Amino acid sequence: MLSTAPILAVLGAAALSSAHTVITYPGWRGDNLITNDTFPYGMQWMYPCGGYPTTTNRTYWPTTGGAIALQPGWFQGHATAFMYINLGFGTDGPDGGPPNMSNPMVSPFQIIGPSANPYAGTICLPEVPLPANTTVSPGDNATIQVVEIAKHGAALFSCVDITFAEPNDPRIPDVNASNCFNSNVMGFADVYTVVTRESSAYPNVSSGGASTTITRFWYFGKHAAASSWPLASVWNVLGLVPMVLGLVWMVV
Ligand SMILES: *[C@@H]1O[C@H](CO)[C@@H](O)[C@H](O)[C@H]1NC(C)=O
Ligand SMILES: *[C@@H]1O[C@H](CO)[C@@H](O)[C@H](O)[C@H]1NC(C)=O
Ligand SMILES: *[C@@H]1O[C@H](CO)[C@@H](O)[C@H](O)[C@H]1NC(C)=O
Ligand SMILES: *[C@@H]1O[C@H](CO)[C@@H](O)[C@H](O)[C@H]1NC(C)=O
Ligand SMILES: *[C@@H]1O[C@H](CO)[C@@H](O)[C@H](O)[C@H]1NC(C)=O
Ligand SMILES: *[C@@H]1O[C@H](CO)[C@@H](O)[C@H](O)[C@H]1NC(C)=O
Ligand SMILES: *[C@@H]1O[C@H](CO)[C@@H](O)[C@H](O)[C@H]1NC(C)=O
Repeated sequence: MLSTAPILAVLGAAALSSAHTVITYPGWRGDNLITNDTFPYGMQWMYPCGGYPTTTNRTYWPTTGGAIALQPGWFQGHATAFMYINLGFGTDGPDGGPPNMSNPMVSPFQIIGPSANPYAGTICLPEVPLPANTTVSPGDNATIQVVEIAKHGAALFSCVDITFAEPNDPRIPDVNASNCFNSNVMGFADVYTVVTRESSAYPNVSSGGASTTITRFWYFGKHAAASSWPLASVWNVLGLVPMVLGLVWMVV
C-alpha cells in the first residue's frame, strides 16, 4: 500500500476537481472509497451498493436510457477487470431500494488499464439502454448498480439512485465532455465464449487429441498488444461511439 500512496494522492487531487465521484455520471450514493473500522476491507466490497443505503437525493435519468460514466482505477490490482452495469427497479426491496439488481443494462465487458497500480481513467457509455424488455414511466424510481470484478473474483459495488424523466427533461444533468469521456489510457475487450456445452452435457470439452480433456469455458479475448488499444471492440458491440479525449479529467 505504501508504494501506491503517491498515486492515490494524485487521484485524490483529481477527484476533488471532478466532484469526488467514481460514477462520474449520473452520480453516486456517496463517497465509498473508505476503509475504516465499520468496513475493514473497504466499503466498496459491500453488496449491493458499496456500503451505502438507499438515498433520497435521486438524480434524474432518461426513460429511454442514457449516459453512464465511471472511473474504475481507484484501487490497486485492476490492470484488468470485468464491468457489469445493472438496474434495480423500484423501492419495494430491502432498505427501501430495489428487490434485486438482476437486470443487466449492457453486456459485461473487460477493461484493460495501464497498470496494476491505481490509475486515472474514465469510461463513458453515452447510450446505455434500459434492461432488455423493460419499460419505465417518468417518475419511476430505480437504482443503477456498477459492479467491477477484480482478477481474484471479488466485486466492487457502487450505485446511484435515480428517478426516470422524459429524455428532454431539464432536470436531467447535461452529458458533456467534462463528465462523460473515455480516457486514452483505457482499453476494452468483449467477454465472450469460445467453447460452450449444454448444461446437461458431459462436462468434458475436448480440444485436440482424443486423450486431451480440457474444461475451458471462457476466453478473455483481445488483450491489448503493447502498442495497440483495442478501443473499438466493446463499442462496436454496444453500438456506441467512443469519445476519446485523453486525460482531460486530470487537468481540469
Ligand atoms: C447524494 O448526497 C450524498 C451526500 O451528500 C452525496 O455524496 C452524493 O453525491 C449525492 N448523490 C447525488 C446523485 O446527488
Ligand atoms: C466508516 O465510514 C462510513 C462512511 O462514511 C461511516 O458511515 C461509518 O460510520 C464509519 N465508521 C467508523 C467506525 O468511523
Ligand atoms: C421516488 O423517490 C423519491 C425520493 O426518495 C420519493 O420522494 C418518491 O416518493 C419516490 N417515488 C415513488 C413512485 O416511489
Ligand atoms: C427482481 O425484481 C423484479 C421487480 O423489480 C421482479 O419482477 C423480478 O422477478 C425479480 N427477479 C428476481 C430474480 O428475483
Ligand atoms: C426479450 O423478449 C424477447 C421476445 O419475447 C425474447 O426473445 C428475449 O429472450 C427477451 N430477452 C430477455 C433478456 O428477457
Ligand atoms: C457538464 O454538465 C454538468 C452537469 O452534468 C455541468 O455541471 C457542467 O458545468 C457541464 N460542463 C461543461 C463544460 O459544460
Ligand atoms: C466424457 O468423459 C467420460 C469419462 O471420461 C466418458 O465416459 C464420456 O464418454 C465422455 N463424453 C463425451 C461426450 O466425450
